[in-house]
Amino acid sequence: MIKYLGSKRLLAPRLAEIAERLGASTAADLFAGTTRVGQALRRRGIRVLSNDTAAYSQVLGHAYIEAGADVDRERLRALLAELDVLPGVEGYVTETFCRRARYFRPENGMRIDAIRAAIDRVEVTEVERGLLLTSLLEAADRVDSTVGVQMAYLKRWAPRAANRLTLREPEPVPGPPGTTTREDANALASQLDGVDLAYVDPPYNQHSYAGNYHVWETIVRGDEPDHYGVACKRIDVRERRSTYNSRRRSWDALTELVAALPVRWLIVSFSNEGFHELEQMQTLLGTRGHTAMVAVDAPRYVGARIGIHNPAGERVGRVSHVRMTEAVFVCGPDPAAIARAVDGALPVAV
Ligand SMILES: C[S@@+](CC[C@H](N)C(=O)[O-])C[C@H]1O[C@@H](n2cnc3c(N)ncnc32)[C@H](O)[C@@H]1O
Repeated sequence: MIKYLGSKRLLAPRLAEIAERLGASTAADLFAGTTRVGQALRRRGIRVLSNDTAAYSQVLGHAYIEAGADVDRERLRALLAELDVLPGVEGYVTETFCRRARYFRPENGMRIDAIRAAIDRVEVTEVERGLLLTSLLEAADRVDSTVGVQMAYLKRWAPRAANRLTLREPEPVPGPPGTTTREDANALASQLDGVDLAYVDPPYNQHSYAGNYHVWETIVRGDEPDHYGVACKRIDVRERRSTYNSRRRSWDALTELVAALPVRWLIVSFSNEGFHELEQMQTLLGTRGHTAMVAVDAPRYVGARIGIHNPAGERVGRVSHVRMTEAVFVCGPDPAAIARAVDGALPVAV
């Protein structure tokens, strides 16, 4: 699975356990990112709608949420084997992300260009295409030269960048196949009639996922966009800013979302390093009925653990704390069911 800020790697199985205990059989993961939470829900037998505005998240959703028993895994493996041995070609990725910027070594960039172009030539279903693109994204992630965000690349190549980019089959996820959408969560909210539970994990600060993961977006879209700056970000990153990245607008967006969701149960992840106060959130979610709040200690983003550095790469300060507090809110109409659901499911050991 790709490196991703705010990914709920450790938390996902616990959230899914809570959802199962609440009796949910359908769930919407409205800000799906890596789709880890959706995958955990699916493993518990819950049918998932996976949504995110990012094209790369939808592709991960095709591979891990939509793909079902009807996927011909033998054919998939054969296709991946063919793609894996293609000779590299110079293309947009090599020029933009290996020579202008340095996210990958050129020999791997050339292989990304060759494989990406070939994926467009094979006749496959949307889900199969998602499986191929997911395999390419994950292979590229294993040989990138970043600290996990694509705002910058390392001054010296990361050791893993020297490895050969190698395609692997995305593991099948057991459980009922779900669906994916690529919509603004607020636009989707009112269309979720009949869904039992929604998981809400929006960005909580100004850092845009479209900017942080622009390389994945460009590889998935294959649209060779104009770019700007040293990081070679897609030009449309400037316009595609999420409301949730705006200090001024995010609270209203969240309030509107919470009011619009026609679901019985709501699980909300919250970080105390974002725009909003914990108490403020508690009050908002109180409008949905009963709320349990569980604090979760999570390892901070790795950049913080290695200290604060200035643009010249010198360490300029110590981080004040190396752990941040995340909270999970579980809301719904039945306090006893909520108490049973969270009992023992959290906190998460890290
Ligand atoms: C904190 S991350 C979610 C991480 C995810 N739970 C995981 O475990 O990988 C927030 C996600 O919200 C997406 N996003 C931002 N604004 C959005 C919006 N208005 N509607 C839907 N998704 C949005 C971003 O692309 C990003 O993937």
